[in-house]
Amino acid sequence: ETPADMINIADFEEHASRTLSKKAWAYYFSASDDLYSKNFNHDVFAKVMFRPRIFRDVTKVDTSSSIFGVSTSLPIFVSPAALARLAHPDGEKAIARACGKQGILQMISNNASLKYPDIVTARVSADQPFAFQLYVQNDRARSVQQLKDVVAAGCRAIVLTLDAPTPGKRELDERVGREEARASGIQDEDSSEPLSASSGLGGKQETGGGVGRALFQGTAGDLVWSDLLWLKAQLPDYMKIVLKGLQTVEDVVLAAQQRDPKTGKPLVDGVIISNHGGRAVDGAPAPLMVLEELRLYTPEVFTQLEIYLDGGIRRGTDVVKALCLGATQVGIGRPALFSLAGGFGENGVHRVIQILREEVETAMRLLGATSLDQLGPHYVNTAQLDSI
Ligand code: FNR
Repeated sequence: ETPADMINIADFEEHASRTLSKKAWAYYFSASDDLYSKNFNHDVFAKVMFRPRIFRDVTKVDTSSSIFGVSTSLPIFVSPAALARLAHPDGEKAIARACGKQGILQMISNNASLKYPDIVTARVSADQPFAFQLYVQNDRARSVQQLKDVVAAGCRAIVLTLDAPTPGKRELDERVGREEARASGIQDEDSSEPLSASSGLGGKQETGGGVGRALFQGTAGDLVWSDLLWLKAQLPDYMKIVLKGLQTVEDVVLAAQQRDPKTGKPLVDGVIISNHGGRAVDGAPAPLMVLEELRLYTPEVFTQLEIYLDGGIRRGTDVVKALCLGATQVGIGRPALFSLAGGFGENGVHRVIQILREEVETAMRLLGATSLDQLGPHYVNTAQLDSI
């Protein structure tokens, strides 16, 4: 099998389920508790129906977009996700190369299996954009050093993830973690063994509780809105700040209200509506529901900051529906990781982005839209979404 044999994103997931190690599959696939939010993140897209228009010239379609001022060829970014080397030795570098060639933004996880400055050496052009996703550490000095390193490596934006002050209860990950611990003779989850060298986590320890829980050791659970000023103070002025993991209208409004007391300027450039792909609290709303609430109840926020979402994007039509409801761009998490599996590496990621590109273009043509700025609520019927 080659990436060219994959026809849609679900094919990649199925391929990954057969080719990834048990541990990698469990870690990637996992979501909290009963997976209600994970599944609904995607299923909710079926609640939005299109209103396609006819008799229009759709021979040329333009999908060019931008995210916090950075031009991209598609309204899609790769969301930050940990430990890509569990799927392929090139890990995040393979994602970087594919994103560079396809002209989209990669957000690099705080828990990437390679270090940020190392990953960005895989850039395919000097101006390829990246963002760094930060989990603030209990040991703030560590975070300060990380930020210095990514600034020095040319980073343009910090994505601060806020939906995971503690990991959700990801049972498949935990089950496989316990099995592995038992198999290697470790007594219980209090004992620990170093992660294998290939995971690149250096000093961090893995426990019988699964990969997810091990990764969260040292992550701060005490962040509050005023910590944004601390973050701002660590960064050069040109650096954009994006908050990730907002799940309510109230928090998006609060994000839009945050200002630097010295300059009076807004502190937040964009927000990613996300429930961590269903890995935060189970029962969290599907991001598309939150987007629709924003559109109905607080439309002014769309002029105050850019709104992105991730979770459950598996089709070009999903992308187009989110854009019609006001999202500037959408992110993919698991599809990028799954696409690396079974030796696919960079070519797998490349194919995933290509499939989504073709699906977005096809959807736009069939709607009668030829550029992203034409997309809007007039192209969708949200009656079912509004009745949830
Ligand atoms: C994640 N996600 C995540 N988010 C983040 O801010 N920092 C991180 O390190 C990670 N790590 C991570 C690992 C894995 C295996 C998954 C599946 C997810 C969440 C990620 O950025 C994104 O929000 C979701 O993956 C989006 O949902 P889909 O596209 O996977 O459905």
